[in-house]
Amino acid sequence: MLLDKGYLDMKVDKSLDLFDEIKYLKKEKNTVILAHYYQDADIQDIADYIGDSLGLAQEAQKSTANIILFAGVHFMAETAKILNPSKKVLIPDLKAGCSLADSCPADAFAAFKAEHPDHIVITYINCTADIKALSDIICTSSNAVQIVESLPKDQPIIFAPDKNLGAYINKKTGRNMLLWNGSCMVHEIFSLQKLIKLKIQHPQAKVIAHPECEAPILEHAHFIGSTTALLNYSKKSADKEFIVLTEAGILHQMQKSSPDKTFIPAPPDNSCACNDCPYMKLNTLEKIYIALKYEQPELLMDEQLLNKAKTPIIKMLELSAKFGL
Ligand code: 13P
Ligand code: SF4
Repeated sequence: MLLDKGYLDMKVDKSLDLFDEIKYLKKEKNTVILAHYYQDADIQDIADYIGDSLGLAQEAQKSTANIILFAGVHFMAETAKILNPSKKVLIPDLKAGCSLADSCPADAFAAFKAEHPDHIVITYINCTADIKALSDIICTSSNAVQIVESLPKDQPIIFAPDKNLGAYINKKTGRNMLLWNGSCMVHEIFSLQKLIKLKIQHPQAKVIAHPECEAPILEHAHFIGSTTALLNYSKKSADKEFIVLTEAGILHQMQKSSPDKTFIPAPPDNSCACNDCPYMKLNTLEKIYIALKYEQPELLMDEQLLNKAKTPIIKMLELSAKFGL
């Protein structure tokens, strides 16, 4: 442990080839780099596995490496630690949080849950370990619909923290789940007006969207799914043009898999051309190099909390395996 936290101010020698250095350190320290699709292209290119939240959790659970370096946000690294507690889990920037996770504080959620004691709590993986510990089953955008549908139709359900994903599942399954009022700052700022304009400019384009987007945006989508589902749809589709409504990092894999197709990032309701998650984008190659070299910052967890949060995640993974996901 670098007690003086000196690694935070560490400057990286500009002459280093970070791709080579990271490759070397990774092998030397038997480390696996797991990266979410929302990471910068160069981080995706040095990762051993790139995936959505479900794929990353599955990969973390089965990893045999000594160290897991998680290029994503805090709740994802935390999930990796919960699923594989004997491993050292590194996160390049401890400040890589999540607005959706922040929108669900544990004490307020515990009070909400206590008001509805007959409800089962299904919680989206984008939340803190404290919230997971208060949940019955975790889900991701890849398996949320199937998990909800696996429960009896008359079972009252609390769904947290994403109200947009919850509303989408309610619509899709005909349920009336009680929704926590949380949302993702990235997915809720897509501009409906700009989307309509883009559709007019690109009449042949298929609109593909993540279910964290708001309902009026989702109404325009030809396909709705998790980041992996959106990527797979774009690969298999015979269409050549796509308007993409999720964080812009996914475009790297879309373009790599289908170089002959055009991917247009839908713009947010501000002056930016595309929509980046400021938390995901805190990670850089330099920070990954430092994290690998000094094995810091390490994600550490209270053992009791870890065990409590593990049960609903394991339930999700078991159900996902049953659904063939
Ligand atoms: P998925 O990884 O399930 O597609 O969710 C996207 C997301 O917002 C991750 O932060
Ligand atoms: Fe959280 Fe949204 Fe960023 Fe995903 S994209 S990490 S849900 S703020």
